[in-house]
Amino acid sequence: MTVLDTVAVDRTARKSRLRHYLMCPPTHFSVTYAINPWMNPDIPVNHDLAEIQWDVLRHTYLSLGHTVDLIDPEPGLPDMVFAANGGLVVGGRAYSAKFRYEQRQGESQAYRNWLKAAEIHAVDPIETNEGEGDFLTLGAMILAGSGFRTNISAHIEAAAAIDRPVVSLELVDPRFYHLDTCLAVLDDGNGAAPADIAYYPAAFSPHSQRTLRDLFPNAVICSEADALAFGLNAVSDGHHVVLPTAAIGLGEQLRGRGYNPVPVNLGELLKAGGSVKCCTLELHV
Ligand code: ARG
Repeated sequence: MTVLDTVAVDRTARKSRLRHYLMCPPTHFSVTYAINPWMNPDIPVNHDLAEIQWDVLRHTYLSLGHTVDLIDPEPGLPDMVFAANGGLVVGGRAYSAKFRYEQRQGESQAYRNWLKAAEIHAVDPIETNEGEGDFLTLGAMILAGSGFRTNISAHIEAAAAIDRPVVSLELVDPRFYHLDTCLAVLDDGNGAAPADIAYYPAAFSPHSQRTLRDLFPNAVICSEADALAFGLNAVSDGHHVVLPTAAIGLGEQLRGRGYNPVPVNLGELLKAGGSVKCCTLELHV
């Protein structure tokens, strides 16, 4: 078998699965405070463009056949567009978010209300955690980040709430302050293909780098340039990987593995330190 045959086998192995997402329109989006190194209130946001970019993302999901629910945006909560932080939802159970910074704390109740209306039982957290920003579901387990936003004690709380084992990973680079900025789940392992991830090693402590190497020896290793372009802030359905346009190298790596990269430009949202995945909470079945 030649290398090309291997690629051909991989390509046919990638299968998409229809997903259910929750998004929040960027009606009140702006950058009025700085709680991560990407945010600078002195740099203006083009609000109309942000709306268009977000809508392209929503339509991208719809055109791929996925379901997109919307939560009503609330005034005074400019980061509420980053729905991934609203909680962790797996198998009809949820673990609600408890935001680290005061500026975002009002979002917890808004997302809790949405879960309640959707009749998804949510466990209220004692520990600080920022939902899918720091909890990524993969097969039977959950990869969990700590170091900047989510407390490591929240990992234990989440494991009990969702009834899944949690693997704790320590983040060390403030530019990659949520797990979903430096690690992307490409295949969640719930279909025919094995679990597959991409990540940027230097964002993790040496111990966590070892954990990732042991668990995922064949992972896609993302370059610093593509990580800084938020390439890992991607959403995959197992075949299509929606990711920021600027992460060109990562897109090529994914294509070489049989994925179909779908680039979208969320440049205005990036001014708040967020992109594709941040705008998307997956309601995992
Ligand atoms: N400005 C937001 C914050 O710093 C961005 C959140 C990005 N969300 C994410 N899931 N990484 O909290």
